[in-house]
Order: sequence, then structure tokens, then C-alpha cells
Amino acid sequence: MNLFEDTPTLLDNLSTAILLFDTEKRLHSINTAGEDLLSTSKRAVCGQMIDELFIEFPLLEAMTECLESGQPFTERDTELQIGVDQTIIVDCAITPLSGSIKSKGVVFECINVDRNRRITREEDIMARHQATSVLIRGMAHEIKNPLGGLRGAAQLLERELETDELKEYTGIIISEADRLRKLIDRILGPSDAPILRKINIHEVLEHIRTLVDAETSDQIAFTRDYDPSLPDMMADVDQLIQALLNIVRNAVQSVDEQGSITLKTRAERQFMINNQRHKLVVRIDVIDNGPGIPEELRETIFYPMVTGRAEGTGLGLSIAQTLIHRHNGFIDFESSPDQTTFTAWLPLETENK
Ligand SMILES: Nc1ncnc2c1ncn2[C@@H]1O[C@H](COP(=O)(O)OP(=O)(O)OP(=O)(O)O)[C@@H](O)[C@H]1O
Ligand SMILES: [Mg+2]
Repeated sequence: MNLFEDTPTLLDNLSTAILLFDTEKRLHSINTAGEDLLSTSKRAVCGQMIDELFIEFPLLEAMTECLESGQPFTERDTELQIGVDQTIIVDCAITPLSGSIKSKGVVFECINVDRNRRITREEDIMARHQATSVLIRGMAHEIKNPLGGLRGAAQLLERELETDELKEYTGIIISEADRLRKLIDRILGPSDAPILRKINIHEVLEHIRTLVDAETSDQIAFTRDYDPSLPDMMADVDQLIQALLNIVRNAVQSVDEQGSITLKTRAERQFMINNQRHKLVVRIDVIDNGPGIPEELRETIFYPMVTGRAEGTGLGLSIAQTLIHRHNGFIDFESSPDQTTFTAWLPLETENK
């Protein structure tokens, strides 16, 4: 069989997993997306029988029939068990080899539907995030100018006042105006475009861990699960620290300064973010064992001013999402009552936005 030998680059650049089996249902070839799907390497799996590859392969009969009858077969929303506790939902097709290819066998194509669902969810989150951000930033701008005028007028008035008792009132106007100004500046966020420099993501995470450690008591157990093979990346280090710090601080607050937080990094290949496919993406997980995100916040958590904390401003995640988006990345979360994971994906080849 020389299907893969002829077109390896093309097949390895597809986001569809392609597995080529011979008539015995032994894996002959697999493309990069297939390796990613099975979290394995070509070398490790080529030559294995199909029941060695998958713990449960629900389409075994269909494959046998396809080999015998030569009829192609397609199935949607099939559950594939690819690890002891990992199943994925895929759309797949089994097609007999034909045409100019002399050898016999079948091509098993499969698309990770979970991934497509994630993309739909990402588009949804980003569209809503951008709409609410535009609205709230517009309002913040409108408040900022008259606020400056109010503060200035209070200062002028203060100079004319003779008694300290009256100056107390202008003092209140000035300090409240300053408080509001700080909030507005946070809403508007850093306006500068990211200044990209070569950075090491683990150094950034270690810096954040040290910062948070210094802010809190010693009761938080930090676990580090880093992928040391990750290459350096281009990013604005200050903006990246701010974004990830907001996430880590939330995790700390959720475990109420007691509990455990895991900082994890992994590489993902052929990964779609913001409608762009990236060859290599860094995945940063911040996992806490707090009580989880309240149900009523889940839909709107990335909106500005959405908070579940009495003293919260609800800007942390919205700012983090904006900053990561400027690096062509994206943040999402998964949450259950005893575990919450916030994930930031960042492409390794970032361009200014
Ligand atoms: N890891 C987490 N576990 C549980 N709930 C979380 C977690 N992260 C965020 N939340 C919830 O999401 C809300 C919004 O978070 P966000 O960081 O945007 O605002 P905030 O923390 O309330 O205020 P700010 O960050 O501006 O000080 C939080 O108030 C909290 O209720
Ligand atoms: Mg926060």
C-alpha cells in the first residue's frame, strides 16, 4: 500500500483522522490527526490489530462488512473509547480502498465531534463577549470624560472653601471619583497592543505561582504538571501574566485559601482557535478543587461585571479573555462541584492583533 507514502504531507495536514487498515484489520498507516486522536505515535500503533487500538470499537461489524461487500459505511455521533476513562464522540466513515490503489483494505476516517462542538461554543462565547465588551466599554468612555470634569470642579471648589467641615464633602467627591476612575480604567483594560517577545510559558506560570503564594497563606497546595518539551513562544509577558493571574486568583478564591490548585501545560496539534488552524498550540490548565462555578453564572461568566463574590467586580475573566484573544488564543472552562478547570489555549506562532 502506498497511499500514505504518496501524499504524507497532505494527509498529515488534515484535521480528519485517517487510519488505513489492511484486510486483516491491522493498522497499516495513520495520519497526524489520527495520532492526536489516539494520543499516540505512528511507530507505536502501526501493525496493531483494531481491537488492540480501541478498548471498544462499535463499528467492527461494519468494517468487516465493508471489507467483504466493498460498500462504504458512514455513521454519526459514534462513541469511541480510546482510553480507560476516555471516550470521544466522532462522525466517521469506512471506505474500501479502490481506484488506482491496488492493495486491499479500508480507510477509516473520523472527525472528532467534541472538537466541533468546542469550536461552536468558542464562537458563541467570543461573539457574546465582544458584544458585551463593546457595550460596556462604550459606557465606560462616556462616564470617563464627565467624571474628570466633576473631579476637577470639586478640586476648584475645595480651594474656595474655608472650613475643613465643608472640605470633607469635596474630599468625598474626589475620592469617590478616583474610585470610579480606577474601575473604569479596569473596564477599558490595557489599550496597548501586545509587545511580543520570546517567552517561556513555564517561567510565566512560576512567576504567577510565586506572586499568588506571597498573597495567600500557606494552605494552598500547588501542583505543577508541566510539559517540558514545550518550545518558547511569542507573547506580551505582562499581558499574559495579567490574564493568567486573574484565573489563578479566582481559583485561589474558590478554594477559600485552602485546597489544591494544579497548573498544567500541554501541547495540542492541529488545533482550531478563532477560525484559524494552528499547527501547535499551548494548552494551559488551571485546576482547582473548589466547589465549582455556580450554575447561574455559567452562561455569562466571561461577561464584564458578572460576579459571584460580594467584593468582586466581575472583570477578571472578561479582561483575561480579551488579553488572551489579543494573542489569538481563547479561554474556556469545565466545572463540576469538586473540580473546576480553566483552560487557555495559545498558538505558538502569534501575530500582533
Ligand atoms: N475557579 C472558580 N471556581 C468557582 N467559581 C469561579 C471560579 N472562577 C471564577 N468563578 C466565578 O466567576 C465569577 C467571575 O469571575 P471574575 O474573575 O470575572 O470576577 P470576580 O473574581 O468576581 O471579580 P474580579 O476578578 O474583577 O475581582 C467569580 O465571582 C466567581 O463566582
Ligand atoms: Mg476574579
